[in-house]
Amino acid sequence: MPIFLTGFMGVGKTTVGKRLGELQQLPVIDMDHYIEEKEGMKIKDIFSEKGEWHFRSIETAALKDLMKVEAVITTGGGIIERLENREMLAAVQTVFHLFCSFEVLWERLEGDSERPLVQKNSMDGLLELYNRRLPLYRNVSKIEIDTTYKTIDETISELKRNL
Ligand code: S3P
Repeated sequence: MPIFLTGFMGVGKTTVGKRLGELQQLPVIDMDHYIEEKEGMKIKDIFSEKGEWHFRSIETAALKDLMKVEAVITTGGGIIERLENREMLAAVQTVFHLFCSFEVLWERLEGDSERPLVQKNSMDGLLELYNRRLPLYRNVSKIEIDTTYKTIDETISELKRNL
């Protein structure tokens, strides 16, 4: 079974996932990267040329591909947008939600030019998205780790304790 890391943009899923993979000697698959390779396009270009709805369909197809892989899988922050994805994730025991306060996330995300939803939204818009998504991450995840005041190493230790 894969180990899934979920959470809002900027929470550190990719960084934490890489380290966890090294420690557990598991391959690491970053879903955004997987999609970019498969489509031969950057995420931001998929959004601008084909639209978010299309991206979500590719994302669901990617999740289906990866459901049985023995790996650490770092999901994109919008993986919980589709009910189908939420149902797939809810059936897995090893789904972690990396939580972080919005204030801390905003400091990291402000001005990010690679993330289309940061480009598109004001701070208030992003906060609204954050608040709407929070219960969805919580519903699909078995364990939540509050990373707000934690170093990467502390987050990893807590993850490992819960594996
Ligand atoms: C998205 C998050 C991004 C990426 C895309 C959409 C979202 O991934 O999948 O830009 O809807 O939150 P990260 O969470 O890795 O930034």
